[in-house]
Amino acid sequence: MKRELLTVKSNRKLNESVFELVLTGASPMRAGQFAELTAEGFFLRRPISLARYEDGEAVFLIRIAGAGTAKMSLLEAGQTVDALTCLGNGFDVSANAPLLIGGGIGCAPLYQLAREFGAKGVRPVAVLGFRTAAEAYYLDEFAAVADVTVATDDGSLGVRGNALDAVRAANIRFDRYYACGPAVMLRALAVGLGNGQLSLEARMGCGFGACMGCSIKTVSGFKRVCKEGPVFEASEILWE
Ligand SMILES: Cc1cc2nc3c(=O)[nH]c(=O)nc-3n(C[C@H](O)[C@H](O)[C@H](O)COP(=O)(O)OP(=O)(O)OC[C@H]3O[C@@H](n4cnc5c(N)ncnc54)[C@H](O)[C@@H]3O)c2cc1C
Ligand code: FES
Repeated sequence: MKRELLTVKSNRKLNESVFELVLTGASPMRAGQFAELTAEGFFLRRPISLARYEDGEAVFLIRIAGAGTAKMSLLEAGQTVDALTCLGNGFDVSANAPLLIGGGIGCAPLYQLAREFGAKGVRPVAVLGFRTAAEAYYLDEFAAVADVTVATDDGSLGVRGNALDAVRAANIRFDRYYACGPAVMLRALAVGLGNGQLSLEARMGCGFGACMGCSIKTVSGFKRVCKEGPVFEASEILWE
């Protein structure tokens, strides 16, 4: 964990609720790791996954969920953000035929993951699920680094249905899957596809292992999403 004062390089709206925040001055981070970003006026920082990292520049894709993220959406170039960076454990980038499965804002960390596979000469398949076409984001960016299938709940873009429906419809061959998205989706993947790597969310207090507030049940006892996770093997998790 590092505490760093990052500078906003840019902040742009990607759709009605998602924005892309580019921060400079960040230490190197890996796909699956996250940062705790301060929202001005709020005591607790907000955990946000790394979406892209390059040469000190960390990109975060953020959905406005409440007052803290709404405040962050107003950040302007040149302002600073007090952040805890390099938090949590990243994905294991060892697959030869990786399948990346994202749901909603959970697609964000999979972009850096696809880039890391690309750096190893492996082009992943990415199945990106959104509620509607209007909620989709980063499709061109993903298309540059992965073979992309899009699914929307209402069929307004790509396959109608959820990400698991799209995986089944496309009959995709893979040796390991990596997923991030709503808990209901992750659980369905664990049941339907067997073991893989899941990036979990939990309400967080400290973000670095001190408060136990983010603990989940696993086959080997309680584990902290912020410290032992947020990436876990699906087979480890005891679903509530
Ligand atoms: C490891 C991790 C990585 C994350 N990565 C991203 C990311 O890349 N992009 C992104 O937009 N969001 C991400 N989140 C979720 C993000 O942290 C929350 O949406 C944010 O903290 C909400 O803050 P707020 O003040 O806007 O909303 P609040 O007013 O705090 O909450 C608004 C609503 O969001 C729900 N909520 C708040 N925190 C969480 C949480 N941690 N998990 C699930 N629901 C929550 C609340 O229950 C409430 O319904 C991540 C969360 C975790 C734990
Ligand atoms: S948020 Fe405090 S231990 Fe995880």
